[in-house]
Amino acid sequence: MCGIVGYVGSRDCSEVLVSALTKLEYRGYDSAGIAVFENNEIITVKTKGKLKDLEDKLGAVGKPQGHIGIGHTRWATHGEPSDVNSHPHSGARVTIVHNGIIENYLDLKEFLISKGREFLSDTDTEVVAQLLDYMYNGNPVETIDSVMAELKGSFALGIMFKDYPDRVFAVRRESPLIVGVNEGECFIASDVPAILQYTRDYYLLEHDEIATLTREGVTFVDEHLEPIEKELKTADWDMEAAEKGGYPHFMIKEINEQPSAIQMTITPRIKNGLPCLEECGITLDKIKDFKSITIVACGTAMHAGMVGKYVIEDLARVPVTVDIASEFRYRNPIVGKGDLVIIVSQSGETADSLAALRLAKQKGATTLAIVNAKGSSIAREADMLIYTLAGPEIAVASTKAYITQLSVIYLFAFELALAKETISPAECKRLVSALRKMPEAVQYVIDSCEEKCKFIATKLINAESLLYIGRGLDYALSMEGSLKLKEVSYIHSESYAAGELKHGTISLIDEEMPVISVATQTDVIPKTISNIVEVKSRGATIILVCTDACARKLKEGVADYVIEIPHSDELLMPITAVVPLQLLAYYTSINRGNDPDKPRNLAKSVTVE
Ligand code: M6R
Repeated sequence: MCGIVGYVGSRDCSEVLVSALTKLEYRGYDSAGIAVFENNEIITVKTKGKLKDLEDKLGAVGKPQGHIGIGHTRWATHGEPSDVNSHPHSGARVTIVHNGIIENYLDLKEFLISKGREFLSDTDTEVVAQLLDYMYNGNPVETIDSVMAELKGSFALGIMFKDYPDRVFAVRRESPLIVGVNEGECFIASDVPAILQYTRDYYLLEHDEIATLTREGVTFVDEHLEPIEKELKTADWDMEAAEKGGYPHFMIKEINEQPSAIQMTITPRIKNGLPCLEECGITLDKIKDFKSITIVACGTAMHAGMVGKYVIEDLARVPVTVDIASEFRYRNPIVGKGDLVIIVSQSGETADSLAALRLAKQKGATTLAIVNAKGSSIAREADMLIYTLAGPEIAVASTKAYITQLSVIYLFAFELALAKETISPAECKRLVSALRKMPEAVQYVIDSCEEKCKFIATKLINAESLLYIGRGLDYALSMEGSLKLKEVSYIHSESYAAGELKHGTISLIDEEMPVISVATQTDVIPKTISNIVEVKSRGATIILVCTDACARKLKEGVADYVIEIPHSDELLMPITAVVPLQLLAYYTSINRGNDPDKPRNLAKSVTVE
């Protein structure tokens, strides 16, 4: 999604803006631009392409010399990626950058055209710039407030008024925006990493609040233009966490951070060998009466929910439905008082997941958020909250967020099973103890499998399509393996319940279709092996991810490549088994010459529908 930055201070503003934008590259973008006050004039430089292209252009035309400005990386929504559609956009006296979508922009555009305004771009953003200019009454904050009343949608804006060359304004509705502060300087940004090189102190802008940034500091007013005091927050992770630290890509760095991410996430939530989620607002008493659970999320987070379904149903005997947030929110779901709705999200800002949370609350359900980004909208609005303590996840492809989401879901499932008395405290302690071994087990899998995955990935370079199969938890995990591969390698892939193949999909199998099978669940391994034999006999190349115990029983020649992982508690196997799937995706992406950190067309944080 688009990234916004802004600066007011005494540094070289062009440099600050470009440097801050590089820290938002992970969000995904197709063009970039900056606007800086130079001798009281707003100078805008923007281009289609990457930040490198912007830097080249700045080199060619001369970078604006000044200390106050705004910058943007655009992920196209309205209008193709092009120079003219890139941000910033301007009216005669106003220049803005924008993240999000203005839903009523066509009506507003029509109105402005009827008033004689002309438009250069296809964007909804330019409509806001023109509207600000049209409604400008000499007072920027009042004008922004009036314009906000006209806008529908979710958005964040950084704004400069030509008449006020000493300040930058910011406002948001739904889309995230923070305001960083430091001695003699202020920043705006879509996310904390953008400002970490300058300051760790920041404010979270709330809906419809307007911030005014000057060298003297920042002031805030609410939607009624009443001045407000806000709580200053301090980022608890530093630059290093948001840098590659010697790895070629964030994705592989984050795969390698998984052991410590699990450790960080589970350790504070275990006391006396049992789960302890009191600090997250969860007690046995509070959860014992839930009759049904719905887990709502998108993409990888939804796949973590799929694992949760198997684990919670198995341990706590409570029916669990997993729903895609964009479906849940528009289908009048059956949830209400007495039901628990769990929202899983790395960013805590995913538009559909946030809307699903609000709908669940409106219907009377109790909500629990499992979120990584501190202070995000989903984290703030849910009734109960468990943070995954994965640290910043920069690569678009989620890895350590997924594994920590699983870790939290396991802890919650153990706690719920205790509350429901479907497992004994002794059994719970055994499970917790097995979970505590996961950091070490994941480290072992990384160390023992990486070379093999790298090698097998060379065999996938020319594949046009792949199939991931498994049963039970292995099927839930296959979904994540398949998504990981397709998003970074651009090879089509599907995940399928192995037993369902015969009902249609097996017709796709031939020599050209590699099949990746996951087999970690002892009860169903013989069944999965039968399915593997079936696809093998139709020519497929088989890559099998299985436990060492399974590998020992495997007949010669059943699989072409076997990736063995150590056997642990069966329910916990997705935590270790996902690692080879992540590594296969990463190395296939590299082999195909892609940038796994910034897959085409994708954004890290999907803050629009
Ligand atoms: O921030 P969220 O966890 O809510 O994001 C949801 C999905 O967009 C996300 O999990 C996406 O599928 C992954 N980045 C894919 O690796």
